Amino acid sequence: MSTLALTDGAVTGGVIVVGLSFNPNKASALTIESGTLTLDTRTLLAQLKELGATGKHDEIIKIPGTRTKLIVFTGLGQMQKVYAHETLRRAAGAAARALAGSDEATFALPTANIEAVAAIAEGAALGAYAFDEFRGSTKSERKLPLAKIAIHSKFSKKIEAKNALKRAQIIAKYTHLVRDLINTPPSHLTPDTFTKKIAAVVKSAGGASAGLKVSVLNEKQLKSGGYGGIIGVGQGSANPPRLLHITYTPEKSLRKFAFVGKGITFDTGGLALKPAAGMEAMKSDMSGAAAVCGAILAIASLKLPVSIEAWAPLAENMVSDNATRPSDVITIYGGKTVEVLNPDAEGRLVLADALVKAQETKSLDGLVDVATLTGAQVVALGTRTSAVMTNNEAFSAQLLSAATDSGEAFWPMPLPQELRASLDSPVADLANIGERMGGMLVAGLFLKDFVKPEVPWLHLDIAGPAYNESGAHGYTPVGGTGVALRTLLRLVENSIIR
Ligand code: BES
Ligand code: MN
Ligand code: ZN
Repeated sequence: MSTLALTDGAVTGGVIVVGLSFNPNKASALTIESGTLTLDTRTLLAQLKELGATGKHDEIIKIPGTRTKLIVFTGLGQMQKVYAHETLRRAAGAAARALAGSDEATFALPTANIEAVAAIAEGAALGAYAFDEFRGSTKSERKLPLAKIAIHSKFSKKIEAKNALKRAQIIAKYTHLVRDLINTPPSHLTPDTFTKKIAAVVKSAGGASAGLKVSVLNEKQLKSGGYGGIIGVGQGSANPPRLLHITYTPEKSLRKFAFVGKGITFDTGGLALKPAAGMEAMKSDMSGAAAVCGAILAIASLKLPVSIEAWAPLAENMVSDNATRPSDVITIYGGKTVEVLNPDAEGRLVLADALVKAQETKSLDGLVDVATLTGAQVVALGTRTSAVMTNNEAFSAQLLSAATDSGEAFWPMPLPQELRASLDSPVADLANIGERMGGMLVAGLFLKDFVKPEVPWLHLDIAGPAYNESGAHGYTPVGGTGVALRTLLRLVENSIIR
Protein backbone atom coordinates (compact mmCIF):
# COMPACT_ATOMS: atom_id res chain seq x y z
CA MET A 1 0.00 0.00 0.00
CA SER A 2 1.23 3.44 -0.86
CA THR A 3 0.96 6.14 1.79
CA LEU A 4 -0.93 9.39 1.25
CA ALA A 5 -0.04 12.86 2.54
CA LEU A 6 -1.09 16.50 2.10
CA THR A 7 1.23 19.36 1.24
CA ASP A 8 1.14 23.02 0.23
CA GLY A 9 4.85 23.72 0.23
CA ALA A 10 7.44 24.18 -2.47
CA VAL A 11 8.65 21.00 -4.13
CA THR A 12 12.38 20.63 -4.55
CA GLY A 13 13.90 17.44 -5.79
CA GLY A 14 11.61 14.48 -6.24
CA VAL A 15 8.86 13.97 -8.78
CA ILE A 16 5.88 16.19 -9.48
CA VAL A 17 2.73 15.28 -11.37
CA VAL A 18 0.80 18.05 -13.12
CA GLY A 19 -2.11 18.12 -15.54
CA LEU A 20 -2.05 18.93 -19.23
CA SER A 21 -5.18 19.97 -21.13
CA PHE A 22 -5.94 21.18 -24.64
CA ASN A 23 -8.11 23.86 -26.15
CA PRO A 24 -10.16 22.29 -28.97
CA ASN A 25 -10.65 25.66 -30.65
CA LYS A 26 -6.98 26.52 -30.98
CA ALA A 27 -4.67 24.12 -32.75
CA SER A 28 -1.88 22.91 -30.43
CA ALA A 29 -2.96 25.18 -27.56
CA LEU A 30 -1.93 23.30 -24.42
CA THR A 31 -2.44 24.39 -20.83
CA ILE A 32 -0.41 23.16 -17.88
CA GLU A 33 -2.69 22.68 -14.89
CA SER A 34 -0.54 22.58 -11.77
CA GLY A 35 -3.09 23.82 -9.22
CA THR A 36 -1.38 25.60 -6.35
CA LEU A 37 2.13 24.93 -7.60
CA THR A 38 3.77 27.55 -9.82
CA LEU A 39 5.96 26.36 -12.65
CA ASP A 40 7.95 27.98 -15.43
CA THR A 41 5.30 27.05 -17.96
CA ARG A 42 6.81 28.85 -20.96
CA THR A 43 9.86 26.58 -21.28
CA LEU A 44 7.85 23.51 -20.43
CA LEU A 45 5.17 24.27 -23.05
CA ALA A 46 7.88 24.64 -25.68
CA GLN A 47 9.32 21.26 -24.69
CA LEU A 48 5.87 19.65 -24.65
CA LYS A 49 5.17 20.96 -28.13
CA GLU A 50 8.47 19.51 -29.29
CA LEU A 51 7.47 16.14 -27.80
CA GLY A 52 4.11 16.17 -29.60
CA ALA A 53 2.05 16.29 -26.39
CA THR A 54 -1.72 16.39 -26.84
CA GLY A 55 -3.13 16.56 -23.29
CA LYS A 56 -5.56 13.76 -24.11
CA HIS A 57 -6.84 11.37 -21.42
CA ASP A 58 -4.34 8.66 -20.47
CA GLU A 59 -1.43 10.48 -22.11
CA ILE A 60 1.64 10.56 -19.87
CA ILE A 61 4.69 12.66 -20.72
CA LYS A 62 7.79 12.75 -18.53
CA ILE A 63 10.27 15.63 -18.67
CA PRO A 64 13.36 15.94 -16.44
CA GLY A 65 12.89 18.98 -14.20
CA THR A 66 15.33 21.69 -13.20
CA ARG A 67 14.28 22.20 -9.57
CA THR A 68 12.77 18.71 -9.43
CA LYS A 69 13.99 15.36 -10.69
CA LEU A 70 11.05 14.74 -12.97
CA ILE A 71 7.83 16.41 -14.10
CA VAL A 72 5.06 14.05 -15.16
CA PHE A 73 2.30 15.51 -17.33
CA THR A 74 -0.97 13.61 -17.18
CA GLY A 75 -3.70 14.27 -19.73
CA LEU A 76 -6.84 16.03 -18.48
CA GLY A 77 -8.51 16.18 -21.91
CA GLN A 78 -10.32 19.32 -22.95
CA MET A 79 -9.50 22.38 -20.83
CA GLN A 80 -12.12 23.20 -18.18
CA LYS A 81 -12.58 25.91 -15.57
CA VAL A 82 -13.34 23.17 -13.05
CA TYR A 83 -12.42 19.57 -13.83
CA ALA A 84 -14.83 16.72 -13.10
CA HIS A 85 -13.71 14.66 -10.11
CA GLU A 86 -13.57 11.52 -12.20
CA THR A 87 -11.30 13.28 -14.72
CA LEU A 88 -8.90 14.11 -11.89
CA ARG A 89 -9.20 10.60 -10.43
CA ARG A 90 -8.30 8.99 -13.77
CA ALA A 91 -5.49 11.43 -14.56
CA ALA A 92 -3.94 10.86 -11.13
CA GLY A 93 -4.34 7.11 -11.56
CA ALA A 94 -2.66 7.08 -14.98
CA ALA A 95 0.26 9.06 -13.53
CA ALA A 96 0.59 6.76 -10.54
CA ARG A 97 0.71 3.74 -12.88
CA ALA A 98 3.37 5.42 -14.98
CA LEU A 99 5.41 6.01 -11.81
CA ALA A 100 5.65 2.36 -10.80
CA GLY A 101 9.15 1.84 -9.44
CA SER A 102 9.35 5.38 -8.03
CA ASP A 103 9.56 6.10 -4.34
CA GLU A 104 7.48 9.27 -4.13
CA ALA A 105 5.60 11.90 -6.13
CA THR A 106 3.76 15.14 -5.41
CA PHE A 107 0.50 15.48 -7.30
CA ALA A 108 -0.14 19.13 -8.17
CA LEU A 109 -3.43 19.11 -10.07
CA PRO A 110 -6.31 21.62 -10.01
CA THR A 111 -8.12 21.40 -6.67
CA ALA A 112 -11.18 23.67 -6.69
CA ASN A 113 -12.48 22.02 -3.53
CA ILE A 114 -11.77 19.25 -1.03
CA GLU A 115 -13.69 16.71 -3.12
CA ALA A 116 -11.09 17.30 -5.84
CA VAL A 117 -8.31 16.57 -3.33
CA ALA A 118 -10.18 13.39 -2.41
CA ALA A 119 -10.53 12.37 -6.05
CA ILE A 120 -6.83 12.88 -6.79
CA ALA A 121 -5.85 10.93 -3.67
CA GLU A 122 -8.21 8.08 -4.60
CA GLY A 123 -7.08 7.98 -8.21
CA ALA A 124 -3.39 7.99 -7.34
CA ALA A 125 -3.77 5.35 -4.63
CA LEU A 126 -5.94 3.15 -6.88
CA GLY A 127 -3.40 3.48 -9.70
CA ALA A 128 -0.57 2.38 -7.42
CA TYR A 129 -1.40 -1.33 -7.62
CA ALA A 130 0.44 -4.43 -8.71
CA PHE A 131 -0.34 -8.12 -8.50
CA ASP A 132 2.88 -10.12 -8.49
CA GLU A 133 2.10 -12.70 -5.83
CA PHE A 134 2.28 -15.60 -8.26
CA ARG A 135 5.50 -14.66 -9.99
CA GLY A 136 8.58 -16.68 -9.28
CA SER A 137 11.67 -16.10 -11.41
CA THR A 138 10.25 -12.87 -12.90
CA LYS A 139 9.20 -11.34 -9.60
CA SER A 140 12.43 -9.43 -9.01
CA GLU A 141 12.13 -7.70 -12.41
CA ARG A 142 8.78 -6.21 -11.48
CA LYS A 143 8.52 -2.57 -10.45
CA LEU A 144 6.85 -1.86 -7.12
CA PRO A 145 3.86 0.48 -7.07
CA LEU A 146 4.53 4.17 -6.35
CA ALA A 147 5.21 4.18 -2.61
CA LYS A 148 4.49 7.72 -1.36
CA ILE A 149 1.86 10.07 -2.71
CA ALA A 150 1.58 13.73 -1.66
CA ILE A 151 -1.37 15.86 -2.78
CA HIS A 152 -0.59 19.54 -3.31
CA SER A 153 -3.42 21.97 -2.50
CA LYS A 154 -4.38 24.97 -0.41
CA PHE A 155 -6.45 22.66 1.81
CA SER A 156 -3.55 20.78 3.37
CA LYS A 157 -4.25 22.07 6.91
CA LYS A 158 -8.00 21.39 6.73
CA ILE A 159 -9.44 18.60 8.82
CA GLU A 160 -11.83 17.79 5.92
CA ALA A 161 -8.84 17.20 3.66
CA LYS A 162 -7.25 14.91 6.24
CA ASN A 163 -10.50 12.95 6.48
CA ALA A 164 -10.72 12.76 2.70
CA LEU A 165 -7.21 11.30 2.63
CA LYS A 166 -8.06 8.73 5.27
CA ARG A 167 -11.14 7.73 3.26
CA ALA A 168 -9.08 7.47 0.05
CA GLN A 169 -6.58 5.26 1.87
CA ILE A 170 -9.37 2.95 3.06
CA ILE A 171 -10.93 2.81 -0.41
CA ALA A 172 -7.57 1.92 -1.94
CA LYS A 173 -6.76 -0.69 0.70
CA TYR A 174 -9.99 -2.59 0.22
CA THR A 175 -10.22 -2.08 -3.54
CA HIS A 176 -6.77 -3.67 -3.69
CA LEU A 177 -8.10 -6.55 -1.60
CA VAL A 178 -11.00 -7.01 -4.04
CA ARG A 179 -8.61 -6.91 -7.02
CA ASP A 180 -6.24 -9.39 -5.33
CA LEU A 181 -9.10 -11.83 -4.70
CA ILE A 182 -10.25 -11.57 -8.33
CA ASN A 183 -6.72 -11.98 -9.70
CA THR A 184 -5.92 -14.95 -7.46
CA PRO A 185 -6.13 -18.10 -9.61
CA PRO A 186 -8.81 -20.67 -8.76
CA SER A 187 -6.04 -23.11 -7.84
CA HIS A 188 -5.46 -20.84 -4.85
CA LEU A 189 -8.92 -19.34 -4.33
CA THR A 190 -11.58 -21.92 -3.54
CA PRO A 191 -14.80 -21.29 -1.61
CA ASP A 192 -12.98 -22.43 1.55
CA THR A 193 -9.84 -20.32 1.08
CA PHE A 194 -11.99 -17.31 0.16
CA THR A 195 -13.68 -17.49 3.58
CA LYS A 196 -10.31 -17.93 5.32
CA LYS A 197 -8.74 -14.94 3.56
CA ILE A 198 -11.72 -12.76 4.50
CA ALA A 199 -11.71 -14.00 8.10
CA ALA A 200 -8.04 -13.03 8.35
CA VAL A 201 -8.68 -9.55 6.92
CA VAL A 202 -11.64 -9.03 9.27
CA LYS A 203 -9.41 -9.99 12.17
CA SER A 204 -6.69 -7.54 11.14
CA ALA A 205 -9.38 -4.84 10.73
CA GLY A 206 -10.16 -5.23 14.44
CA GLY A 207 -12.75 -8.00 14.33
CA ALA A 208 -15.36 -7.81 17.07
CA SER A 209 -13.85 -4.60 18.49
CA ALA A 210 -14.57 -2.95 15.11
CA GLY A 211 -18.14 -4.32 15.17
CA LEU A 212 -17.35 -7.05 12.65
CA LYS A 213 -18.34 -10.71 12.86
CA VAL A 214 -17.78 -13.52 10.37
CA SER A 215 -19.62 -16.82 10.15
CA VAL A 216 -19.38 -19.56 7.54
CA LEU A 217 -21.70 -22.42 6.64
CA ASN A 218 -19.89 -25.47 5.23
CA GLU A 219 -21.29 -27.97 2.73
CA LYS A 220 -22.84 -30.17 5.43
CA GLN A 221 -24.58 -27.22 7.04
CA LEU A 222 -25.70 -25.92 3.64
CA LYS A 223 -27.19 -29.31 2.76
CA SER A 224 -29.04 -29.76 6.04
CA GLY A 225 -30.05 -26.08 6.02
CA GLY A 226 -31.81 -26.42 2.67
CA TYR A 227 -29.54 -24.26 0.50
CA GLY A 228 -30.30 -26.17 -2.70
CA GLY A 229 -28.93 -23.47 -5.01
CA ILE A 230 -25.46 -23.30 -3.49
CA ILE A 231 -25.30 -27.10 -3.11
CA GLY A 232 -26.60 -27.73 -6.63
CA VAL A 233 -23.96 -25.48 -8.18
CA GLY A 234 -21.14 -26.62 -5.91
CA GLN A 235 -21.72 -30.36 -5.92
CA GLY A 236 -19.71 -30.99 -9.08
CA SER A 237 -16.53 -29.71 -7.50
CA ALA A 238 -13.90 -31.26 -5.25
CA ASN A 239 -13.77 -27.84 -3.56
CA PRO A 240 -17.06 -27.77 -1.64
CA PRO A 241 -19.24 -24.65 -1.41
CA ARG A 242 -19.59 -22.18 1.47
CA LEU A 243 -21.90 -19.40 2.56
CA LEU A 244 -19.91 -16.54 4.04
CA HIS A 245 -21.71 -14.05 6.25
CA ILE A 246 -20.15 -10.86 7.62
CA THR A 247 -21.99 -8.45 9.87
CA TYR A 248 -20.99 -4.93 10.76
CA THR A 249 -22.85 -3.54 13.77
CA PRO A 250 -21.90 0.04 14.69
CA GLU A 251 -22.47 1.47 18.16
CA LYS A 252 -25.13 3.76 16.76
CA SER A 253 -27.07 2.56 13.72
CA LEU A 254 -29.21 4.84 11.54
CA ARG A 255 -29.81 2.47 8.62
CA LYS A 256 -29.59 -1.21 7.79
CA PHE A 257 -28.50 -2.66 4.45
CA ALA A 258 -27.82 -6.18 3.22
CA PHE A 259 -25.35 -6.92 0.42
CA VAL A 260 -25.22 -10.20 -1.48
CA GLY A 261 -22.32 -10.99 -3.84
CA LYS A 262 -22.01 -13.78 -6.40
CA GLY A 263 -19.02 -15.89 -5.43
CA ILE A 264 -18.32 -18.45 -8.14
CA THR A 265 -14.58 -19.05 -7.68
CA PHE A 266 -14.48 -20.58 -11.17
CA ASP A 267 -17.25 -20.95 -13.73
CA THR A 268 -16.58 -23.70 -16.28
CA GLY A 269 -20.27 -23.62 -17.21
CA GLY A 270 -20.72 -27.03 -15.59
CA LEU A 271 -22.23 -29.63 -17.92
CA ALA A 272 -23.04 -26.70 -20.25
CA LEU A 273 -19.26 -26.42 -20.56
CA LYS A 274 -17.99 -23.09 -21.82
CA PRO A 275 -15.62 -22.98 -24.81
CA ALA A 276 -11.93 -23.12 -23.83
CA ALA A 277 -11.14 -19.78 -25.47
CA GLY A 278 -11.63 -17.11 -22.85
CA MET A 279 -12.66 -19.48 -20.07
CA GLU A 280 -9.73 -18.25 -17.96
CA ALA A 281 -11.61 -14.98 -17.37
CA MET A 282 -14.12 -16.97 -15.32
CA LYS A 283 -11.75 -16.84 -12.36
CA SER A 284 -13.33 -13.39 -11.98
CA ASP A 285 -16.81 -14.85 -11.40
CA MET A 286 -16.47 -14.13 -7.66
CA SER A 287 -16.08 -10.38 -8.23
CA GLY A 288 -19.48 -9.59 -6.67
CA ALA A 289 -18.61 -11.52 -3.51
CA ALA A 290 -15.24 -9.77 -3.29
CA ALA A 291 -16.87 -6.36 -3.81
CA VAL A 292 -19.43 -6.79 -1.02
CA CYS A 293 -16.71 -8.03 1.36
CA GLY A 294 -14.51 -5.06 0.45
CA ALA A 295 -17.43 -2.67 0.87
CA ILE A 296 -18.43 -3.87 4.35
CA LEU A 297 -14.77 -3.66 5.46
CA ALA A 298 -14.46 -0.11 4.12
CA ILE A 299 -17.74 0.91 5.79
CA ALA A 300 -16.58 -0.59 9.09
CA SER A 301 -13.15 1.06 8.84
CA LEU A 302 -14.87 4.42 8.38
CA LYS A 303 -17.04 3.63 11.42
CA LEU A 304 -20.19 4.65 9.55
CA PRO A 305 -23.37 4.51 11.68
CA VAL A 306 -25.06 1.99 9.38
CA SER A 307 -25.56 -1.74 10.01
CA ILE A 308 -24.46 -3.97 7.16
CA GLU A 309 -24.87 -7.64 6.49
CA ALA A 310 -22.78 -9.06 3.68
CA TRP A 311 -23.53 -12.48 2.22
CA ALA A 312 -21.27 -14.32 -0.18
CA PRO A 313 -22.54 -17.63 -1.56
CA LEU A 314 -19.33 -19.34 -2.72
CA ALA A 315 -19.12 -22.31 -5.08
CA GLU A 316 -17.06 -23.67 -7.93
CA ASN A 317 -19.08 -24.54 -11.04
CA MET A 318 -17.37 -27.69 -12.33
CA VAL A 319 -17.96 -30.74 -14.51
CA SER A 320 -18.10 -34.17 -12.85
CA ASP A 321 -20.23 -37.26 -12.38
CA ASN A 322 -21.79 -35.42 -9.49
CA ALA A 323 -22.49 -32.14 -11.33
CA THR A 324 -26.06 -30.90 -11.69
CA ARG A 325 -27.62 -32.14 -14.94
CA PRO A 326 -29.78 -30.06 -17.28
CA SER A 327 -33.36 -30.94 -16.18
CA ASP A 328 -32.40 -31.53 -12.54
CA VAL A 329 -34.72 -29.83 -10.06
CA ILE A 330 -33.28 -28.12 -7.00
CA THR A 331 -34.98 -26.46 -4.03
CA ILE A 332 -33.83 -22.96 -3.17
CA TYR A 333 -33.60 -21.92 0.51
CA GLY A 334 -37.16 -21.09 1.53
CA GLY A 335 -38.80 -23.75 -0.65
CA LYS A 336 -39.10 -22.56 -4.26
CA THR A 337 -38.09 -25.21 -6.78
CA VAL A 338 -36.01 -24.51 -9.87
CA GLU A 339 -35.54 -26.65 -12.96
CA VAL A 340 -31.90 -26.27 -13.96
CA LEU A 341 -32.15 -26.16 -17.73
CA ASN A 342 -28.68 -24.70 -18.06
CA PRO A 343 -26.00 -25.33 -15.42
CA ASP A 344 -24.10 -22.31 -16.79
CA ALA A 345 -26.83 -20.03 -15.43
CA GLU A 346 -25.47 -20.83 -11.96
CA GLY A 347 -25.00 -17.37 -10.46
CA ARG A 348 -28.73 -16.79 -10.06
CA LEU A 349 -29.04 -20.13 -8.22
CA VAL A 350 -26.50 -19.33 -5.52
CA LEU A 351 -27.80 -15.76 -5.29
CA ALA A 352 -31.39 -16.98 -4.83
CA ASP A 353 -30.41 -18.91 -1.68
CA ALA A 354 -28.52 -15.95 -0.28
CA LEU A 355 -31.17 -13.36 -1.19
CA VAL A 356 -33.86 -15.36 0.62
CA LYS A 357 -31.57 -15.83 3.62
CA ALA A 358 -30.63 -12.14 3.69
CA GLN A 359 -34.30 -11.17 3.91
CA GLU A 360 -34.69 -12.97 7.24
CA THR A 361 -33.21 -9.76 8.65
CA LYS A 362 -36.18 -7.55 9.40
CA SER A 363 -36.72 -3.91 8.35
CA LEU A 364 -33.90 -3.66 5.84
CA ASP A 365 -33.55 -0.20 4.30
CA GLY A 366 -32.19 -1.90 1.24
CA LEU A 367 -30.94 -5.15 -0.24
CA VAL A 368 -28.27 -4.98 -2.95
CA ASP A 369 -26.86 -7.89 -4.91
CA VAL A 370 -23.69 -7.60 -6.97
CA ALA A 371 -22.88 -10.19 -9.61
CA THR A 372 -20.95 -10.99 -12.76
CA LEU A 373 -24.22 -12.50 -13.87
CA THR A 374 -24.61 -12.41 -17.65
CA GLY A 375 -22.68 -12.15 -20.88
CA ALA A 376 -25.73 -10.20 -22.07
CA GLN A 377 -24.72 -7.38 -19.70
CA VAL A 378 -21.46 -6.97 -21.62
CA VAL A 379 -23.29 -7.09 -24.96
CA ALA A 380 -25.74 -4.41 -23.82
CA LEU A 381 -23.47 -1.96 -21.99
CA GLY A 382 -19.90 -2.86 -22.92
CA THR A 383 -17.01 -3.48 -20.61
CA ARG A 384 -17.01 -0.27 -18.59
CA THR A 385 -20.66 0.35 -17.66
CA SER A 386 -22.50 -1.77 -15.10
CA ALA A 387 -26.25 -2.31 -15.00
CA VAL A 388 -28.75 -1.56 -12.22
CA MET A 389 -32.11 -3.32 -12.02
CA THR A 390 -34.63 -2.79 -9.25
CA ASN A 391 -38.09 -3.22 -7.73
CA ASN A 392 -37.88 0.31 -6.30
CA GLU A 393 -37.18 3.32 -8.53
CA ALA A 394 -36.32 5.66 -5.64
CA PHE A 395 -33.66 3.26 -4.36
CA SER A 396 -32.27 2.89 -7.87
CA ALA A 397 -32.06 6.69 -8.17
CA GLN A 398 -30.00 6.75 -4.97
CA LEU A 399 -27.66 4.10 -6.37
CA LEU A 400 -27.21 6.03 -9.62
CA SER A 401 -26.47 9.22 -7.76
CA ALA A 402 -23.95 7.39 -5.52
CA ALA A 403 -22.35 5.94 -8.66
CA THR A 404 -22.01 9.41 -10.18
CA ASP A 405 -20.44 10.70 -6.95
CA SER A 406 -18.01 7.80 -6.81
CA GLY A 407 -16.99 7.96 -10.48
CA GLU A 408 -18.22 4.46 -11.35
CA ALA A 409 -20.42 4.06 -14.43
CA PHE A 410 -23.82 2.45 -13.81
CA TRP A 411 -26.87 2.55 -16.07
CA PRO A 412 -30.52 1.65 -15.27
CA MET A 413 -32.06 -1.35 -16.99
CA PRO A 414 -35.72 -2.45 -16.88
CA LEU A 415 -37.27 -5.69 -15.63
CA PRO A 416 -40.06 -6.06 -18.20
CA GLN A 417 -42.85 -8.22 -16.81
CA GLU A 418 -43.59 -9.84 -20.18
CA LEU A 419 -40.22 -11.62 -20.09
CA ARG A 420 -41.05 -13.35 -16.81
CA ALA A 421 -43.28 -15.96 -18.48
CA SER A 422 -40.25 -17.30 -20.34
CA LEU A 423 -38.93 -18.54 -16.97
CA ASP A 424 -41.98 -20.75 -16.39
CA SER A 425 -41.10 -24.44 -16.11
CA PRO A 426 -43.33 -27.40 -16.97
CA VAL A 427 -42.12 -29.27 -13.87
CA ALA A 428 -40.87 -26.80 -11.22
CA ASP A 429 -41.81 -23.38 -9.83
CA LEU A 430 -39.49 -21.78 -12.36
CA ALA A 431 -36.63 -22.56 -14.73
CA ASN A 432 -33.16 -21.05 -14.49
CA ILE A 433 -33.13 -19.80 -18.09
CA GLY A 434 -35.75 -18.13 -20.28
CA GLU A 435 -35.92 -15.94 -23.37
CA ARG A 436 -32.43 -15.46 -24.80
CA MET A 437 -33.03 -11.92 -26.04
CA GLY A 438 -32.64 -9.53 -23.12
CA GLY A 439 -30.76 -12.19 -21.15
CA MET A 440 -29.56 -9.68 -18.55
CA LEU A 441 -33.14 -8.66 -17.80
CA VAL A 442 -34.34 -12.28 -17.67
CA ALA A 443 -31.64 -13.02 -15.08
CA GLY A 444 -32.80 -9.97 -13.11
CA LEU A 445 -36.40 -11.19 -13.29
CA PHE A 446 -35.30 -14.61 -12.00
CA LEU A 447 -33.74 -12.95 -8.94
CA LYS A 448 -36.77 -10.70 -8.45
CA ASP A 449 -38.83 -13.87 -7.83
CA PHE A 450 -36.83 -14.35 -4.62
CA VAL A 451 -37.24 -10.80 -3.31
CA LYS A 452 -40.23 -9.67 -1.26
CA PRO A 453 -41.92 -6.79 -3.08
CA GLU A 454 -41.75 -4.58 0.01
CA VAL A 455 -37.95 -4.88 0.33
CA PRO A 456 -36.14 -2.16 -1.68
CA TRP A 457 -33.83 -4.20 -3.87
CA LEU A 458 -31.10 -3.50 -6.41
CA HIS A 459 -29.43 -5.98 -8.73
CA LEU A 460 -26.05 -4.82 -10.04
CA ASP A 461 -24.76 -6.80 -13.03
CA ILE A 462 -21.02 -6.05 -13.25
CA ALA A 463 -20.09 -8.84 -15.71
CA GLY A 464 -18.11 -6.54 -18.03
CA PRO A 465 -16.60 -3.91 -15.69
CA ALA A 466 -15.43 -6.34 -12.96
CA TYR A 467 -12.51 -7.68 -14.98
CA ASN A 468 -10.38 -5.71 -17.43
CA GLU A 469 -9.17 -7.95 -20.25
CA SER A 470 -7.76 -5.10 -22.35
CA GLY A 471 -5.17 -2.49 -21.43
CA ALA A 472 -4.84 -0.53 -18.20
CA HIS A 473 -6.39 2.96 -18.25
CA GLY A 474 -6.77 5.74 -15.69
CA TYR A 475 -6.69 4.12 -12.24
CA THR A 476 -7.93 0.79 -13.66
CA PRO A 477 -5.35 -2.00 -13.98
CA VAL A 478 -5.52 -5.09 -16.15
CA GLY A 479 -7.45 -7.87 -14.36
CA GLY A 480 -9.73 -7.34 -11.37
CA THR A 481 -10.93 -3.74 -11.17
CA GLY A 482 -12.70 -3.64 -7.80
CA VAL A 483 -15.80 -2.07 -9.32
CA ALA A 484 -18.93 -1.56 -7.13
CA LEU A 485 -17.07 -1.08 -3.84
CA ARG A 486 -16.96 2.73 -4.15
CA THR A 487 -20.59 2.97 -5.22
CA LEU A 488 -21.79 0.76 -2.35
CA LEU A 489 -19.77 2.84 0.10
CA ARG A 490 -21.16 6.08 -1.30
CA LEU A 491 -24.72 4.71 -1.25
CA VAL A 492 -24.35 4.00 2.47
CA GLU A 493 -22.69 7.37 3.17
CA ASN A 494 -25.39 9.26 1.27
CA SER A 495 -28.15 7.34 3.09
CA ILE A 496 -27.26 9.04 6.38
CA ILE A 497 -27.18 12.60 5.07
CA ARG A 498 -30.47 12.31 3.20
N1 BES B 1 -20.41 -15.91 -15.22
C1 BES B 1 -21.23 -15.94 -16.38
C2 BES B 1 -21.51 -14.55 -16.93
C3 BES B 1 -20.33 -13.77 -17.46
C4 BES B 1 -20.06 -13.75 -18.81
C5 BES B 1 -19.57 -12.99 -16.61
C6 BES B 1 -19.00 -13.00 -19.29
C7 BES B 1 -18.51 -12.27 -17.09
C8 BES B 1 -18.23 -12.25 -18.43
C9 BES B 1 -22.56 -16.59 -16.05
O1 BES B 1 -22.55 -17.56 -15.08
C10 BES B 1 -23.06 -17.24 -17.29
O2 BES B 1 -22.44 -18.18 -17.72
N2 BES B 1 -24.17 -16.74 -17.83
C11 BES B 1 -24.75 -17.27 -19.01
C12 BES B 1 -26.24 -17.36 -18.78
C13 BES B 1 -26.97 -18.10 -19.86
C14 BES B 1 -26.62 -19.57 -19.81
C15 BES B 1 -28.45 -17.89 -19.66
C16 BES B 1 -24.45 -16.33 -20.15
O3 BES B 1 -24.47 -15.11 -19.93
O4 BES B 1 -24.14 -16.80 -21.24
MN1 MN C 1 -22.13 -19.50 -15.85
ZN1 ZN D 1 -21.06 -17.40 -13.69
